Amino acid sequence: MEYNSPTISFFGLGYVGIVTAACFASKGFKVLAYDVDKKKVELLNEGKSHIFEPGLDKLIKESVDKGKLKGVYDPFEAVLNSDMTFITVGTPSKQDGSIDLKFVDSASKMIGEALKLKDKWHLTVVKSTVIPGTTNKVVRRNIEILSRKKYDEEFGVCSNPEFLREGSAVEDTFNPDRLVIGGDEKSVNFLKRFYEMFYNPLPPTIITTAENSELIKYANNAFLAMKVSFINMISRICQKLPNGDIEVIAKGIGLDKRIGPLFLRAGAGWGGSCWPKDLNALKKFAEELELKLPLVDATIEVNNTQPLIMIDLAKEELKDLKGKTISVLGLSFKPNTDDVRDAVSIKIINNLLEEGAIVKVYDPKAMENIYRIFQDKLTYAGSAIECIKNSDCAMLVTEWDEFKRMTPEDYLKNMRNPFLIDGRRIYDPKLFSGKMKFKAIGLGNRV
Ligand code: UDX
Repeated sequence: MEYNSPTISFFGLGYVGIVTAACFASKGFKVLAYDVDKKKVELLNEGKSHIFEPGLDKLIKESVDKGKLKGVYDPFEAVLNSDMTFITVGTPSKQDGSIDLKFVDSASKMIGEALKLKDKWHLTVVKSTVIPGTTNKVVRRNIEILSRKKYDEEFGVCSNPEFLREGSAVEDTFNPDRLVIGGDEKSVNFLKRFYEMFYNPLPPTIITTAENSELIKYANNAFLAMKVSFINMISRICQKLPNGDIEVIAKGIGLDKRIGPLFLRAGAGWGGSCWPKDLNALKKFAEELELKLPLVDATIEVNNTQPLIMIDLAKEELKDLKGKTISVLGLSFKPNTDDVRDAVSIKIINNLLEEGAIVKVYDPKAMENIYRIFQDKLTYAGSAIECIKNSDCAMLVTEWDEFKRMTPEDYLKNMRNPFLIDGRRIYDPKLFSGKMKFKAIGLGNRV
């Protein structure tokens, strides 16, 4: 098949969709971006994004100005004027934790209906995180039925999961550790040719079945979450061990090449839009296969209880939290994002409110998102210093850079009772513990 620079369409302008679309367009590929939410499409055509992600606004603005990136309101327009369509719709959880494929289902039906009107072979790429079997059983099947076209001969489908992290999504898209592409030969080759042009040279690439490709994504997320829960589990020992310090343990084991140093930062737990949802979906999928996943269960269990350690540390010092003013520094599920989905801060705030504490919060980016959840139940501060002013305890929950720059004097000068709990291990215990009441996840008493 002759291979010209393909035109690409996107269905779904969530995190993955908008970042990937902007990155492809920034390298000169023509991209048509469709979403059922007209506001997202409109904003895109104004050169803006609805999410905060370093470097993204600039990429979108430049690509829209150059005419390479265009938001479209009509799904047919997107499919009929492109050579391949990336499905990047959300895959939320159902009440029981299993995956809700309704958006993947409706997107693939729309693609199928549009393809009925198209004469040329078209590729559909499933980038959304979906349980194994979805690409073939849902996407391919929907397109086959609705387009009345022959699979392979007239259209192709493949799975191509996304591994980007929030907060470094643009950087991750340009520099992935690897690509994973799963599907039939023709589809896989078509997508691989595109990536050869986009990356030049191609990153390490796994070519496999759609099912393996889909499972790689879940196994990857589950393994990383397990790594973090593991170090959090060990941090509990350190906390009860005189002179124990989880930072040193993480360094010690991380230097073993078989373990590696990354994703061993102990803290108040993990959250976000992916891990909590994906681990539950994997569990439910395994249940259908009559399998148990004890390591996934334990990973979740450690994480459910980890944020409570912050509350216990506060109680150890203050006894009763009722009527005490507690400052929560950092609300997003990790730094450099405004995303609060399944954020640890929410669990901590809920617990503090239950204990009757007065909760003051500050985050450089996530204030609006937290306000939507807690409304008038919290006091919202305009800066970190305002947040800790006259409070009885400060809890560091998200490790934003601006918090790292704060000194013991900032806390000493501003708090009613200078008492800091470092939930992300950003402060040097030697510097802080001599000057004020200082506790940290995974830090034992000095003796
Ligand atoms: C994750 C995966 O990394 C990514 O490959 C996938 O595509 C989507 O899910 P993301 O949710 O953006 O990405 O965040 P990530 O940086 O992986 O962190 C997840 C959570 O773990 C955060 O709450 C973070 O604070 C926490 N974490 C991470 C730790 O507590 N310690 C660590 O050492 C690493």
